[in-house]
Amino acid sequence: MSAPTAYPDYSPGLQGIIAGITTISEIDVPTSSLTYRGINVHELAEHAVFEETAYLLLMGKLPNKTELAEFKARISNESAIPQPVIDALKLCPKNMHPMDKLKMAYSMLGAMDSDYEADPISHEANVRKAIRIVAKAANLVAAAHRINEGLDPISPDPELGIAANLMYTMKGEKPDEFVTKVMDASLTLYAEHGFNASTFACRVCVATLSDLYSGVVTGIGTLKGPLHGGANEEAMYMLMEIDKMGDAAKWTHDALASKKKIMGFGHREYRVGDSRAAYMSKLGKEIGQRVGDTHWGDIAETMERIMWDEKKLFPNVDFPSAYAYYLLGIPIPLYTPIFVVARTTGWCAHMIEQLDNNRLIRPTCIYEGPKVTEFVALENR
Ligand SMILES: CC(C)(COP(=O)(O)OP(=O)(O)OC[C@H]1O[C@@H](n2cnc3c(N)ncnc32)[C@H](O)[C@@H]1OP(=O)(O)O)[C@@H](O)C(=O)NCCC(=O)NCCS
Repeated sequence: MSAPTAYPDYSPGLQGIIAGITTISEIDVPTSSLTYRGINVHELAEHAVFEETAYLLLMGKLPNKTELAEFKARISNESAIPQPVIDALKLCPKNMHPMDKLKMAYSMLGAMDSDYEADPISHEANVRKAIRIVAKAANLVAAAHRINEGLDPISPDPELGIAANLMYTMKGEKPDEFVTKVMDASLTLYAEHGFNASTFACRVCVATLSDLYSGVVTGIGTLKGPLHGGANEEAMYMLMEIDKMGDAAKWTHDALASKKKIMGFGHREYRVGDSRAAYMSKLGKEIGQRVGDTHWGDIAETMERIMWDEKKLFPNVDFPSAYAYYLLGIPIPLYTPIFVVARTTGWCAHMIEQLDNNRLIRPTCIYEGPKVTEFVALENR
């Protein structure tokens, strides 16, 4: 909680400020629970594939079997990355972070969308754009990665869903049922989270009557930061540093004593825990047991205990996602891009909701600069 200011109406970081009305998801702080369109996210993670969540967020209801089959076919048909985007990815500097490549790719894709000239408030065109945006995300992340590794991109398998195709097109091997289930659950948990920073940024962008692709580029840029989505990559680098040092308890106590921000802990909305983290942590430990490496889960448990005892801080979803992805052999710079694959659904649902009932988002601010003063001509300064 930040310190009070001299201005009673000002809340730094907009903490606690109501900035809109939504029907897409609800965070219930007392129970630390999260629902998408009224359905608990754990039920979705446990029993549904990611496409069901994508449909729920974009269309407002769960699909029946026929609707799901049609939606999956549409996603598959729209997943190909146009050659000019592949060519542009080949021109990117090797050290360019994949999040920056995604921004570039979506900027190009916007202009290649058949609805590029559509009215920005056309609901139908925006849903079509949203499906194209969601459909391409996994393939883009994998293609950008393979190109950077000097490998040829792999076309998604139309028989596989987004979660399995993400792993297949990234690694070149079809994942087993367990890995597919973990990725479906992870994408589901990452799909949507109310007025978080990137979603709010997307809404601000399209509220000017810009377009969904510009909104997605804004969202990617906002998600990249380590206080938001970038925390999953930073959490893994931190876990590796702790592993090297060999004493998780000492590292955590020292970090707290030096007032270091510990990545993957804390949350603006939740007060006692992030239920998505509990779910991901269970999966992370299960992966550890399967691959015979439980030590990341042990380090995590030590840190979680100390963080709670000392600061009443709990892990957020990025913390267990970090070591779960690591144990699945996913390269660290792809962790936040995988978050993008999931969050394109929430972003698009929010941008469509914003544009369906739009008003420019333009808050005000308090001026503390110099008082009005006379202009001095250049030759007299
Ligand atoms: C998520 C986050 C940005 C929320 O920020 P916020 O609501 O603005 O809260 P603040 O950063 O003001 O933190 C409030 C207090 O808790 C402490 N705190 C919060 N998160 C902390 C963390 N991860 N490690 C150590 N201390 C933390 C702050 O230092 C501050 O302490 P103080 O009051 O003694 O100065 C913040 O918890 C954070 O930076 N976490 C790490 C990054 C992360 O995991 N991001 C992903 C979020 S899903």
